[in-house]
Formats: sequence, C-alpha cells, structure tokens
Amino acid sequence: MTPMLTIAIKAARNAGDIIQQASDNISKLTINIKTKNDYVTEVDQIAEREIINVIRTSYPEHAILAEETGKQAGNDYIWIIDPLDGTTNFLHGFPMYAISIALQHKNKLVLAVVYDPVRDELFTAERGGGAMLNNRKIRVTQPNSLKGTLLGTGFPFKSKQNLDAYLGMFSALVGDTAGIRRAGAAALDLAYVAAGRLDGFWEIGLQPWDMAAGILLIQEAGGVSTDFSFKDHYLSSGNLISASPKIHQAMYKAIEPHVTDNLK
Ligand code: IPD
Ligand code: CA
Ligand code: CA
Repeated sequence: MTPMLTIAIKAARNAGDIIQQASDNISKLTINIKTKNDYVTEVDQIAEREIINVIRTSYPEHAILAEETGKQAGNDYIWIIDPLDGTTNFLHGFPMYAISIALQHKNKLVLAVVYDPVRDELFTAERGGGAMLNNRKIRVTQPNSLKGTLLGTGFPFKSKQNLDAYLGMFSALVGDTAGIRRAGAAALDLAYVAAGRLDGFWEIGLQPWDMAAGILLIQEAGGVSTDFSFKDHYLSSGNLISASPKIHQAMYKAIEPHVTDNLK
C-alpha cells in the first residue's frame, strides 16, 4: 500500500466516524437545501473539513476538488472528494451512504477509496494494483448477456429535463434484466459493480465526486466505463455507463437510442 492510499483511508475512516456519531441524532441536525431536492447538513461539511485536513497535512501542495467547498489550487495531483455520498439516505436513516475519495494525476485516476461506515466496508484501488474490498481482491462479474443481471441506477431527481430520456433507457433495460436497483449513493453503487454485487450501472447528471473513485475501482476490477457517446468524457458530462465489457456493450446498445443531444 502506498503512503497516499494510507492517508486516503485515514481520511475516509475519520469522516466515517464523524458520520456514524451523527447518525444517532439525525433529528438534531441543521439541514440546508442547496438546490431543489439537494440537501446538505453540517455533517457533510465537518466530514469534508476533516478529510481535507488529513490530506493537506501530508500533501499541502496537492489540489482539491470537494463537493461542499469546491476547488483549492495546487500541483498536478487533484483529490476529488465526496464527504457523504447519499445524504438523503443518511437523513432518513436508510443505511446506504459512503465517503468517496479519489486522486487524479495529470488527468488519470490513480487512487480510489469508497468507505461504507455502516458495514465497515472499505473499497480501495490503486492504478495497476487491482481493486480490493477489506483487503481482498474484487472483480466485476462476466455475464454473457443482460439476462439474469442485476443493474444499479440513479434517477434524474434534481431536474425533470432528462426524465423522458431516462425512462426510455429504463424501459429498454428493465425487461431484459433480473432487476434494477436505485440505492441512492452512486459511489457505493459503483463500488458494488466493482465487487460483483451489481452487474452494471448507469446514471444521468452525476458530479465528478460521485463517480471518480468508483470508476477507478471498476477499472481495476476488470470493468469499463463510458459516457453516452461511448467516450471517456464522463467526469465532465456527468453521464455514465459502467460494467464488464460485454454487459457495457449490451447496456450501451439499449441506452443509445434514448440519448438526446444534450446528453451526448
Ligand atoms: C447523490 C447520490 C445519488 C445520485 C445523485 C448524487 P449526494 O449524491 O450519489 O445516488 O443519484 O446524483 O448527487 O448528493 O448524496 O452526495
Ligand atoms: Ca454524491
Ligand atoms: Ca455528498
């Protein structure tokens, strides 16, 4: 394990402790609405401060892109941080949320940590070193077709603009699979694809911090990710399809006819 991964794990675990302590007293939290259907609490902010503090103590020269506080300039290394992915779940006591931390170097993702503090599950990856769950190697599944697969997704709940396109994608896929889950924490959904618990995932309108760590986990677990134009511009477009190569092909084929111009 490299020193950078050790630091990322420490940051994620510290944030996990803060979040779990707060989960005992959710009704006392101050909740603010960022935009429609998009909530933030002081837990998100305190957890983010702690993550940045741990990282900056060891790597003061690195840049930061964090959900709640935005960008901090630095060198070629950028830490991409979601301190609490699944805030709506957290606020409802629905136990699917995680901390997501990725490191990008010269536009390449090099390190990923997704930590589920409820189950104490730590998903980690370093570029070229494989993906792990609690120090055990994980791999994506390799089904031959969509038949019998379990897919993950997220709904476009913040704006209705892409709802029709999304519903077209959903109905093109649902009949061919064994089921589709919307668990409400994209970083964890992607970690589940890497661990073979889901066979694939797609969502419209993600942010870099929702997906950066998950994308590297999937890559290191033998899977692939693209945007809706079969390119690798997912971090900027926010649109993502991830799975093993064969299932990715099948998902892309079903999704592509419903991709409107603004989603390309
Ligand atoms: C959200 C979750 C959700 C996804 C949204 C994200 P947040 O992140 O990942 O599953 O559908 O697009 O914004 O706001 O809870 O960090
Ligand atoms: Ca998020
Ligand atoms: Ca968040």
